[in-house]
Amino acid sequence: MYLTNLKLNKYRNYDQLNVDFSAHINIIVGENAQGKTNLIEAIYYLSSAKTYRIARDNQLAKWNDNFFSILGELTNKNGKVVINVQYQNKDGQNNKEIKINGLKIKRLADLLGNAMVVLFAPEDLNIIKGSPAERRKLLDHDISQVSSSYYIKLQKFNRLLTQRNALLKKIGSRNAKKEELQVWNEQLVDIGSDIIIKRLEVLEKLVPLTRLMQRKLTKGQENLDIKYLLNRQKELKKHDNIKLLLLEELDKTAEEEIRRGITLWGPHRDDLLILLNGNNLKLYGSQGQHRTSVLAIKLAELEFFKAESGEYPILLLDDVLSELDSQRKNMLLNTIQERCIQCFITTTEDLDYLWDDRTCIKKFNISNGYLIQP
Ligand SMILES: Nc1ncnc2c1ncn2[C@@H]1O[C@H](COP(=O)(O)OP(=O)(O)O)[C@@H](O)[C@H]1O
Ligand SMILES: [Mg+2]
Repeated sequence: MYLTNLKLNKYRNYDQLNVDFSAHINIIVGENAQGKTNLIEAIYYLSSAKTYRIARDNQLAKWNDNFFSILGELTNKNGKVVINVQYQNKDGQNNKEIKINGLKIKRLADLLGNAMVVLFAPEDLNIIKGSPAERRKLLDHDISQVSSSYYIKLQKFNRLLTQRNALLKKIGSRNAKKEELQVWNEQLVDIGSDIIIKRLEVLEKLVPLTRLMQRKLTKGQENLDIKYLLNRQKELKKHDNIKLLLLEELDKTAEEEIRRGITLWGPHRDDLLILLNGNNLKLYGSQGQHRTSVLAIKLAELEFFKAESGEYPILLLDDVLSELDSQRKNMLLNTIQERCIQCFITTTEDLDYLWDDRTCIKKFNISNGYLIQP
């Protein structure tokens, strides 16, 4: 799939933008703080009506404005698709309207899959170095884009979790009885185990792809493996009885849950263990190995989306190309070229030397929220 046209109105530091892109390679060159990441973020926003950065929707509107809109015209396997997101903050209320081909959608889940993206940005090193939440986010994002029913389950789980936590606090302060937990427990175990089972299924596809990419990137030197950890500790296998294991965790944590007022088991407590040649990559890997592994994961995500949906997603490379050594850079660029993936590459330095054939490349200079084609 590819994005042919993007229109921004009052988005971040963009006032009005209307730009046609190449179906293949788009390079955006500019100094710091000119709007490169904002542009990448706007394209990402089309995929899920959410940003990946820590920001609320009202922070995405241009300063002194209380609305923004993003309109993207794409071509995907279903033909032409127009996605239009309009946000407005009126009297402190957030209003967001999403239209696909002019028709307003009722649920966010209905947007998923129309514009799929894989983002690779410097902060992705947090997949290795960061907290378990970073690794769950990676998995949840990938699964949601190809399965809106998974996304709906996650939303439901989070709502139940909030309610159960509120009840735990009430029990802790003796304003409710322990027995009241039962009905929440059953629902959370059911839906929680569904979520975990889907994650395990997806990992079963993603892990071999990641391993293959890591071997390619390191000429067969490094073996990458990813394991799913229940409650950050116990390795889960596909054939495990997940419901039973969750019930065991529930039993173990019951007392502490009431004391702390939070749910201490479930998919929101799990983690991924990433191993390189058998060792915990987070603890023992070098900076270079972290970087290579993240690249391997990103390359695997491309293939995962292709296998699941029948088409490659749009690849967003924000400020990462200059950080890669020439072998890794070449492998990434070859992958993009061989598979005709549409990609957006932001950079502060000229990258012209990287391509012999420039026919499918569109280059833009960016300055203070304006894109200019040189
Ligand atoms: N809501 C907003 N309204 C206007 N400007 C913004 C908004 N959010 C961020 N900016 C500005 O956008 C610029 C950063 O853009 P960014 O895309 O991150 O730069 P870079 O080109 O370095 O990637 C900064 O100057 C920042 O102040
Ligand atoms: Mg940036």
